[in-house]
Amino acid sequence: MKSFHSFRLDPPNQCLWRGEQRIPLTPKAFDVLRYLVEHHGRLVTQGEILEALWPETYVNPELIKKYILGIRKVLGDQHDKPVFIETFPKRGYQFVAPVRDDTAAELAEVPSETERKMVGRKAALAELQRSLSKALRGNRQVIFVTGEAGIGKTTLVDVFHQWAARRPNLRVARGQCVEGFGGKEAYYPMLEALGQLIRDSDNNPVAQILAKRAPTWWIQFPSLVKAEKREALQREILGATRERMVREICETLEAITADNPLLLIFEDLHWVDDSTLDLMSALARRREPAKFMLLGTYRPADVVLSKTPLKGLKQDLQVHHLCTEVALERLEEPAIAEYLATQFPNGSLPGGLAKLIYRHSGGNALFMVEIVQDIVKKGLIVQARGAWMLTKPLKDIDPGVPETLQQMLDLQFSHLSAEEQRILNSGSVVGERFSVWAVRPTLGMETDRIEDLLEGLAEKEQFVRSAGLQELPDGSVSAHYEFKHSLFRQVLYRRLSSISRSKLHRRIGDQLRLLYTQDRPELASELALHFEEGHEYEHAIRYLLLTAESAQHRFAHGDAIPVLRHAHELVQKIASNIRVEMEIQILKRIGDAHYALGQVVEASQAYQAEVDRAAQARLTKEEVSALSRLAYTTSPTDSHLGIAASERAVELSKSLGDPTLLARTRILAAAFRLLHDRWRKEDAEICTTTIAIIEQLSAKDVQVALEILYPAQALILQGQYRFALNAEDKVRNVTGSSGLIGNLGAWGKSLALLHMGQLGELVATLRTLIDAAEKNGNKLWFCAFGGMEAWLRTLAFDFQGARKLCDTVLPMCTGNPGRTPRAVTLLSAGDAELGLGNNQEAVHCFSEVKSMTNEQFYMYWYWRMRSARGLARTWLESGNIANARREADCFLQTALSTADPNMQALAWEMKTRVAIAEKDWTLAGESIQAALAVLEEREVPMCAWCVHATAWEFYRLQKNDESAERHRVQAETGIHTLARSFPEQEPLRAIFLAADPVRRILGAAAAVK
Ligand SMILES: Nc1ncnc2c1ncn2[C@@H]1O[C@H](COP(=O)(O)OP(=O)(O)OP(=O)(O)O)[C@@H](O)[C@H]1O
Ligand SMILES: [Mg+2]
Repeated sequence: MKSFHSFRLDPPNQCLWRGEQRIPLTPKAFDVLRYLVEHHGRLVTQGEILEALWPETYVNPELIKKYILGIRKVLGDQHDKPVFIETFPKRGYQFVAPVRDDTAAELAEVPSETERKMVGRKAALAELQRSLSKALRGNRQVIFVTGEAGIGKTTLVDVFHQWAARRPNLRVARGQCVEGFGGKEAYYPMLEALGQLIRDSDNNPVAQILAKRAPTWWIQFPSLVKAEKREALQREILGATRERMVREICETLEAITADNPLLLIFEDLHWVDDSTLDLMSALARRREPAKFMLLGTYRPADVVLSKTPLKGLKQDLQVHHLCTEVALERLEEPAIAEYLATQFPNGSLPGGLAKLIYRHSGGNALFMVEIVQDIVKKGLIVQARGAWMLTKPLKDIDPGVPETLQQMLDLQFSHLSAEEQRILNSGSVVGERFSVWAVRPTLGMETDRIEDLLEGLAEKEQFVRSAGLQELPDGSVSAHYEFKHSLFRQVLYRRLSSISRSKLHRRIGDQLRLLYTQDRPELASELALHFEEGHEYEHAIRYLLLTAESAQHRFAHGDAIPVLRHAHELVQKIASNIRVEMEIQILKRIGDAHYALGQVVEASQAYQAEVDRAAQARLTKEEVSALSRLAYTTSPTDSHLGIAASERAVELSKSLGDPTLLARTRILAAAFRLLHDRWRKEDAEICTTTIAIIEQLSAKDVQVALEILYPAQALILQGQYRFALNAEDKVRNVTGSSGLIGNLGAWGKSLALLHMGQLGELVATLRTLIDAAEKNGNKLWFCAFGGMEAWLRTLAFDFQGARKLCDTVLPMCTGNPGRTPRAVTLLSAGDAELGLGNNQEAVHCFSEVKSMTNEQFYMYWYWRMRSARGLARTWLESGNIANARREADCFLQTALSTADPNMQALAWEMKTRVAIAEKDWTLAGESIQAALAVLEEREVPMCAWCVHATAWEFYRLQKNDESAERHRVQAETGIHTLARSFPEQEPLRAIFLAADPVRRILGAAAAVK
């Protein structure tokens, strides 16, 4: 590691250390400094720097000048007598300070300045070290350092960090939680830490692991994703959920620790966001061995204030021995004496001084340090002849020290110049870190003047310290400062009157807004806070909406909801002419977020509120659109409400004179009636004639996508499969509904493929879908696609496989929305049992579906027909012909009331089989003719071979060999087409071809030949 004076370059963490103090630099500033240090002692030209650091881009050489200027500031270099970087005008720069190359071993032996300065805390440090040793042996560790503000948590963690960083190969990454309402950015500390781990992404192993294993996280670093990979990545993360995001990062961290151990430090968890908490909980609970340690700090009192569930999590983990807590106590008097001894070596200070400081500070480390600095500043401790001594008797010092830290800081503040005070006031409004650029507009002072004053304060260790550089939108850089401690900022901020506070917030918000780009979504919440405090509610709401959007981009819909609800509260404070529109927009977003989480009840409530609000304000167009949303969210739980909402939308849109909108509402209502109520010709016609109009709309948003998908599904039930396939293609790129659209489209497509007999493609499609649903922890879609796979297996005669799958899926189909997958799966289970000869079980399965369909739900009438068919087949198999006839009649009657050619052909075929069993040859003949007539008119690939097989049977019994053979050949052709739709290697293909009913047809061919 390269070091110079009291500075040390830390390339793995891309920062600079001054003794114990970590000075963050922007990546490029760090690179410039590193380049100069690595080539110290010789002139480095501007051209050389440009070529080395910006190899393929054009960069204005002026920029380097700015970087050098900034770096000099950070180092405290002076222009006229440079100690670090010397400028050779028009030629370049030279790093002139002597550079040491410390090996890790050397560093390990020399304790850092912080380590030397830290007193007490031996037991706590030892505990952390023990924990790390366990982690290095593969026992994952979670440990919390807790205690009141200023007690010394960060100091302990810094010392431990420096000690740990000297272990060979250990990776350390830190993330900071930030205060503020909207400040709860989902996964903020984890993303910050990851950002440190994946720098130099090209040949960085962590970046490679992340890209491979955690697409949901990789996409959060858009600048690292290569353009050609972006689309594939988008598809891969379709429908991702919070569970998946958490699991992916857990697995990634484990993979990272396979070669090098990892220490992850999260600071100030009292401000943690819920998503990060979820992640911590998962990390702590996983059983897989990992050389991993998570170290978090927090103030217990603030955990209570901020109402985060952190306390519950820690207690739960503690009960299960999954975490440890190191609670820091206040420093004792001997520790304070030790502190004085390290600060004032060779001193002859009276023993009572430590007692005095102890009494005043109460052992709070921060207070202790401030008191000592105060005493020094007042000239009460001086160095004379190499020894430190008091200039006044101890008893006279006593009254000079204020009683609380706050009072002491107040006093210190009052001694600053008016300009200094104004700068610090503005800084305290920006936050714990602030740049000169951000505060400048509030001050009416020159940048140089501000920087000089801040530099002066930093040098005197008053309130602030220098904290690196920040890049600005125009490519220039600005110096950054941070408060020495968060309490300092708090004290200054609280002193401000509410009027000046809000004025400052407004100005600063206006300035920081210039920094907001898509690459920096985390700024949105900060801006929302400034504008809210600045009483600019309209801006505040806009940035809250952006904050929610960025949470949703991280699949943290749950985190977006409180942000949106807060925006909804603020809406009451804005001008009335825009209020309603904004309110409606927010309610929609709240509904969308719940919907994405699968919380249909809450989503319906939000959409209902949206409907009411729009109705109240007579915004009919908005009301119509909200009603459509209400229709699709209520329908999974209550079909009647869903239909009612969609019909109301049609009524209202009639008055709007917008033919496209009317078409859209009509098609949705028609589709809902078809799918949830019963088959009506008029509705089917609306779907067929209108879908062409809807298909021309671009399906970018969720709503249009649904208006395409639902009717397309209804049309499958009329034997029109093409729409469903097209629809899936069209909506593929719709995002923002947590995969709902993607899954709904895929469901329709699978249903179409199944009916079209394209079984190979169906197998492949279902496997990806089931895999994704499993990864996303999405039970409902797992069941839906699992049930569909079981259905496919029964069609291919793989009864064992189907039954096994049903056993997994059935217990997971719960609640009202689970009714559809339950019906699909039960029907497959019934078919499987029947195939395996377990007739009684089969009757159970089919009867359960039958009784489920006494209520209306998605496609319920279709499932009822299938249950009637299943029962008819089972009764026939069991020899109960009367029951079989009853069910077959019922099946036929319903099928004829629909327009589904597949069901109609199968119903006539069933009727034929019952008639054959009853030896009613006339009826059998008429029925099979009717079945064959359907096939002539419509293409029904999935069931055609079965109809021909029954026809073959019938004509054989009639001794009409010629007709029998004609149908056998057609059945054989159908069989081969189906078999060929599977890939050669697909096991289902062999199972299908080896099944008895199939072999009978094929075997009879051999017999004929
Ligand atoms: N053990 C110690 N020995 C000497 N000085 C200490 C010690 N602990 C803390 N300090 C001093 O006290 C100051 C405050 O400590 P620190 O920032 O670690 O507190 P904290 O517990 O992290 O506070 P917060 O909860 O606000 O983050 C530090 O800047 C450091 O100078
Ligand atoms: Mg701290």
